[in-house]
Amino acid sequence: MAILVAGGAGYIGSQVARALRRSGYEVVIYDNLSTGFRRLARGFELVEGDISHEVKLRSVLARVDAVMHFAAHAYVGESVENPRKYFRNNVAGSLSLLNSVLDAGIRRFVFSSSCAVYGIPGEIPITEQAVRAPVNPYGASKLFFENALEAYACAYGMRAVSLRYFNAAGADESGEIGELHEPETHLIPLALAACSGSGGELQIHGDDYATGDGTCVRDYVHVEDLADAHVRALRYLEGRSDPRGFNLAVNLGTGRGYSVLDVIRAVEGITGRAVRRMVGARRAGDPAVLVADATEAQRVLGWTAQRGIEEMVASAWSWMRESEGGDWAESA
Ligand code: UFG
Repeated sequence: MAILVAGGAGYIGSQVARALRRSGYEVVIYDNLSTGFRRLARGFELVEGDISHEVKLRSVLARVDAVMHFAAHAYVGESVENPRKYFRNNVAGSLSLLNSVLDAGIRRFVFSSSCAVYGIPGEIPITEQAVRAPVNPYGASKLFFENALEAYACAYGMRAVSLRYFNAAGADESGEIGELHEPETHLIPLALAACSGSGGELQIHGDDYATGDGTCVRDYVHVEDLADAHVRALRYLEGRSDPRGFNLAVNLGTGRGYSVLDVIRAVEGITGRAVRRMVGARRAGDPAVLVADATEAQRVLGWTAQRGIEEMVASAWSWMRESEGGDWAESA
């Protein structure tokens, strides 16, 4: 069985491509390399193209049985400043991809969604039934596509799983793939950089939230656990004998929340170094607490996160040290 991994040269997509291959699937990576890295697709067939390029997609889709879609812009702050970019790619581009998939006769689709679809949650932990009211264009773009999948499932028999990630973190065991964003805005890589000397002081975005220690609480989930969930989602799609369309959305988190200060302590414990930091203002659009109720993923996919915050930080730290030297992205 062959799978098209759109956005497979990125941080999460490339982990999933490897997990699929380990599970016996053939993988074709489709990526425009706008934020992905050629190096992460090494050893795979890489087709360079944009998700809105119908002609290019047609010939690739003719060779695959299912599609996984990771090709999205994913900065919350940038989406507020430049919504046009987000709606063009994450909404218009994704819809174009979905139509190409449909026209190719493919009915199995796994979508990389986000806890950003919930906005400011009314209750913690967040279940899949919680109100979806995104508070930024990034979340709105993910919600739009989830709704499109729902409609395509009803109308055209699409069979889809949307996986709502909480905070993806960590690097793979082999040290091949770590978190690398340009610019970097995520807490764990910035905290590691702040104690390695390669980055500036970490700015804590507010310590006056109504949480235990005043800093925001998040549910961090290891990227290898996320990858495993995608393989399970695919098997779930394969295992359904009911020929009608359906659309399922599940949270991927650990169900445990860590504050910014908890993460800093974990980073200091793993590295044995102090995280240079200061407390700054709140970052616009940050909910105080986001923690998943992860029971649905366990019930439906048999998935639970296996790795904790220490493994996320330790693997990210090893990866950061190994990839230091600056040529990581360029070396093929
Ligand atoms: N934080 C800091 N200082 C920093 C960076 C982050 O204090 O320099 C804090 C943030 O305020 C937040 C927490 O650390 O409370 C985690 O921030 P990240 O930027 O690492 O992650 P986010 O929670 O903002 O983003 C994640 C995903 C998005 C997703 C979003 C949903 O990366 O894709 O959750 O809210 F949309």
